Amino acid sequence: MLRSHTCGELRLSDKGKKVQLSGWVQKVRDKGKLVWIDIRDRYGITQLIFEEENTSNDVFNTAKKCGREFVIFVEGNVSERSSKNDKLNTGEIEVLVDKIIVLNESEVPPFTIEEDSDGGDDLRMKYRYLDIRRSNVKDKLLLRHKLLKTTRDFFNNADFIEVETPVLIKSTPEGARDFIVPSRMNQGQFYALPQSPQTFKQLLMVGGLDKYYQLVKCFRDEDLRSDRQPEFTQIDCEMSFVDRSDVIQTFGNFMSHLFKKILNIDIGEIPIMKYDDAMKMYGSDKPDLRFDMKICDISSVTQGKGFKVFDDAESVLAISVPGCSNYSRKDIDEITEYVKTPQIGSKGLVYLKVNEDGTFKSSVDKFYSSDDLKSISKLCKANQGDLILILAGEENQNLKAISELRLLMGKKTNLFDNKIFKPVWIVDFPLFIWDSESDRYHSVHHPFTSPLTDDIESIKNDTRNIKANAYDLVINGVEIGGGSIRIHDRKLQETIFEVLGFSKEEAKNQFGFLLDAFRFGTPPHGGIAFGFDRICSLFAGEESIKDFIAFPKNTSGRDVMIDSPSIIDNDQLDELGIKLSD
Ligand code: AMO
Repeated sequence: MLRSHTCGELRLSDKGKKVQLSGWVQKVRDKGKLVWIDIRDRYGITQLIFEEENTSNDVFNTAKKCGREFVIFVEGNVSERSSKNDKLNTGEIEVLVDKIIVLNESEVPPFTIEEDSDGGDDLRMKYRYLDIRRSNVKDKLLLRHKLLKTTRDFFNNADFIEVETPVLIKSTPEGARDFIVPSRMNQGQFYALPQSPQTFKQLLMVGGLDKYYQLVKCFRDEDLRSDRQPEFTQIDCEMSFVDRSDVIQTFGNFMSHLFKKILNIDIGEIPIMKYDDAMKMYGSDKPDLRFDMKICDISSVTQGKGFKVFDDAESVLAISVPGCSNYSRKDIDEITEYVKTPQIGSKGLVYLKVNEDGTFKSSVDKFYSSDDLKSISKLCKANQGDLILILAGEENQNLKAISELRLLMGKKTNLFDNKIFKPVWIVDFPLFIWDSESDRYHSVHHPFTSPLTDDIESIKNDTRNIKANAYDLVINGVEIGGGSIRIHDRKLQETIFEVLGFSKEEAKNQFGFLLDAFRFGTPPHGGIAFGFDRICSLFAGEESIKDFIAFPKNTSGRDVMIDSPSIIDNDQLDELGIKLSD
């Protein structure tokens, strides 16, 4: 071994011990007759001291020549520091060095390997291995490891078995585009990388495995956001002989276990909310429940009073923002600019201040009596000192807009506390959504989701209103997981394919294997998949999942370190039978 201890290990109790350490040079301080080097490894930083008087010339000169990120081995005695550093675990000691070997030199790194690095995002991604040396990135990977281990322990103890499903498969319809892999042995034909192992886990249930889980890479060619990567990891699970409440119970327990083990937080029983209620109260199927600020429909008061903007609108919605009645003209103008941006798309913003003294001040005073204003305030359950913000517009757009406004006001009023966790199960989603572009229904989740039993009869004549036996786990406004009870009846599955516009031939070509399996005794089953990268960032209180992935892609889907995707040479293309057009 090139070390007796790690760089995070030595304490005052080790005083006087002869030790060997290996690691990277974090910092060199050369004071002429004295040289200090901070040596770093995964476990921490230890201060080394070289005294001209007490070391050989060789050792002293080598120390002086060390640069940042050199890899060194040292041997020396642990001694008590005269000036202690309470920010370091090893801050009470230093090692008085009498032997040093440079194991490998380093060029000057392109950015500083410190918590607040001077390197920009692109540069750090290009040299990701250097970025990983920084404790903030390393700690995120350690958290990921802890979560992986705790997850595996939980499912192994609960008698789930981990099964690996193939990566070269046929397209799975999860709603994104597939990444495609050409086949050399079957020219002109292509594999798809799995968007999820959905059909395979269902086939494992047909195979009688009963309880399955897998920590699995999934691939989706979709536009990237801070909580999306083209290549991400799911905790994918499936169980046989269960109904929705069994699944919600089992995986709710799993979540509680993770919170307890990793953060020592009791999240309690996870509430269940219907999709329709979530949309009505929060304008979103991913409500952030860390704060209240429910949406109120105030059209019963506002309509027919001569204010044309409201009179002509399909929907008039309001939120009451606690303690903001003192917002200035400028504050309100800023919010108005926000709601008018193209991504929100509102035409304007109306406010109603419920002043501390109980009086009202509104931008539309002249259309509404003080009784009207009182009624609005009552509908919104506003308190004195609150600011009511009102948006009007087309129904769907307006709901989306006020939901975004709610989030903005939550942020502005510091209600986004990343130490608080508010999970909720959202249930009873619509099974289908009409897509006017392709002029047909799409599945809200995926086509294997079972409708609620009571709705099965009316699939064809009331398609729009059919509810899914599906559930999403949402925490602090982020979709952490989603799943459903599956269809296990061949006839019902065929009907769903039909509603989704698949001809019999297309359904057979794409999903014949599943329909075939349903002929041979399929147990009732259901499951869920969690976004593992999202769990990691949530637990660390961060929005972006990127740093929780060792080698992530940038926003253009590129790995800038290995420079991929890249052009492949003509021989390789020829072998695959692929001709690129000029
Ligand atoms: P779904 O498509 O909802 O369901 O995916 C499950 C969870 O995976 C996470 N997720 C992502 N995380 C990072 N980057 C992405 N691009 C990305 N896309 C999704 C989300 C999401 O909730 N087969 C079904 C599950 C089932 O029915 O059992 C499925 O994949 O956290």
